[in-house]
Amino acid sequence: MVEKVFLCRDNELRESDMRQVAVAGLETKLVVYKVKGKVYITDALCTHGKAVLTDGDLEGTTIYCPLHGGGFDICTGKAASPPCTVPLKTYPAVVEGNDIFGLLGE
Ligand code: FES
Repeated sequence: MVEKVFLCRDNELRESDMRQVAVAGLETKLVVYKVKGKVYITDALCTHGKAVLTDGDLEGTTIYCPLHGGGFDICTGKAASPPCTVPLKTYPAVVEGNDIFGLLGE
């Protein structure tokens, strides 16, 4: 079941910014990104070694992990550079006025 969950306010995110968000009942935290006015949502932990991705660098739509420098495409979750190989989970984002929601669940 897919649930629409409030994550943060749109005006709290500047362009090319990211924010870690905890969601009640969800094991992992999420990251909300804004790139070129579009919002993306992924899991917060790198699939290679569980580093926190918001400690890394966002370059365009690629997030680079702070631990070993691996990258992920935040649009698709696809591993973009080694040593990452396992995709990062992504979630559809819905922006309604100033509110950003994630569509979470199966
Ligand atoms: Fe992220 Fe190794 S923990 S690249």
